[in-house]
Amino acid sequence: MGNVRLAEGVYWVGAIDWNIRNFHGYSTRLGTTYNAYLVVDEKIALIDTVKAPFYSEMVSRVTELVPLQDIDYVVSNHVEMDHSGSLPMVMSEAKKAKLITLEKFGDSGLKKTFHTDWPLMPVKEGSEVELGKRRLRFIPTPMLHWPDSMCTYLVEDNILFSMDAFGQHMASSVRFDDEVGLDVVMPEAAKYYANILMPFGDLILKAADKLSRLDIGMIAPSHGVIWRSHHEVIVQAYAAWGRGDSRNKALVVYDTMWGSTEKMALALAQGIANEGPEVRVYNLTRSDQSDIMKEVLDARAVLVGSPTLNNGLFPSVAAFLTYLKGLKPKGKLGAAFGSHGWAGGAVKLAQQELGQAGIEVMDSGLAFKFVPTEEELSQCIDFGRTIGNRITGARTELPA
Ligand code: FEO
Repeated sequence: MGNVRLAEGVYWVGAIDWNIRNFHGYSTRLGTTYNAYLVVDEKIALIDTVKAPFYSEMVSRVTELVPLQDIDYVVSNHVEMDHSGSLPMVMSEAKKAKLITLEKFGDSGLKKTFHTDWPLMPVKEGSEVELGKRRLRFIPTPMLHWPDSMCTYLVEDNILFSMDAFGQHMASSVRFDDEVGLDVVMPEAAKYYANILMPFGDLILKAADKLSRLDIGMIAPSHGVIWRSHHEVIVQAYAAWGRGDSRNKALVVYDTMWGSTEKMALALAQGIANEGPEVRVYNLTRSDQSDIMKEVLDARAVLVGSPTLNNGLFPSVAAFLTYLKGLKPKGKLGAAFGSHGWAGGAVKLAQQELGQAGIEVMDSGLAFKFVPTEEELSQCIDFGRTIGNRITGARTELPA
């Protein structure tokens, strides 16, 4: 597979990582891509690079078009090493290239990462660089995904190089959304948003407002396929996710030592389902937390169950709650439940953690000793019904 043309003089020259299965804790069952782009005009610009081990793959695609030595500008939209990792090799070959980066944050991030004296060209909101027939315009998008993140807009071609935003961790032999299909790409885009960008919903809305003033014909993110035909669909999805819109859906996430917390989980799920909402049940020992987080994104309620171990949370539940707290889901209702032997404690701790994740916590949770009785399981069903009723009446609604 060689380079891929996006428009006259605009090419994808990135790399495909078919075999990565863990991206700093995020399970990437479909692999990913590191997208770099080349704009060939009177001046030549390389927009981002790739993770260091993929340098040769990127260079083979660039040199089908131009020698590295002819590059005038290298744009670093984001300092994280999946995009900047090949900069040392590129900058040592592209000797006349200026390295464009966001002032203050990109500038200092690159210096602290690479400790070099590259010829940096800091840019700010609205800065433009003339390439010949067309211009690059720079648009800061702080925290999408780091403070240094920015988008680059190719003005005359209406192409937005959107960095991490609108990406998906998905390797494929084709480069465009319409070659993969929305049924495949949207779940991956949702999982990516949930695990990478969910804490920044308010900033997503600000960025969406800023980008809505551009005439966008194509969105070229730094991971996954390029939005050639469905860019409006992904922009609308980001607006909904940024607002915290949800569906009539609840998750029951738990682990269990001797099956008692699991009995409670299933009874709660039955109670919720009896009132109409969709319910999904996840045992944390058998499920991947980044897959669960994709389901958290559009759920309206998240119930978490933990047995008590050594007076505390079960380790898999503690890890899940730590991850959930970092991702700060918006507008969710929650509660904790669990079984314990001689001494409890896990339910109270889980309630606290849910609250710290920004979840509206219901009641004091459900904690039962040893194996739940039929009467106690009926209480779980009733509690599930209460939750089902609450979320069925909630306001926001996303399509299934
Ligand atoms: Fe794909 Fe935040 O790097």
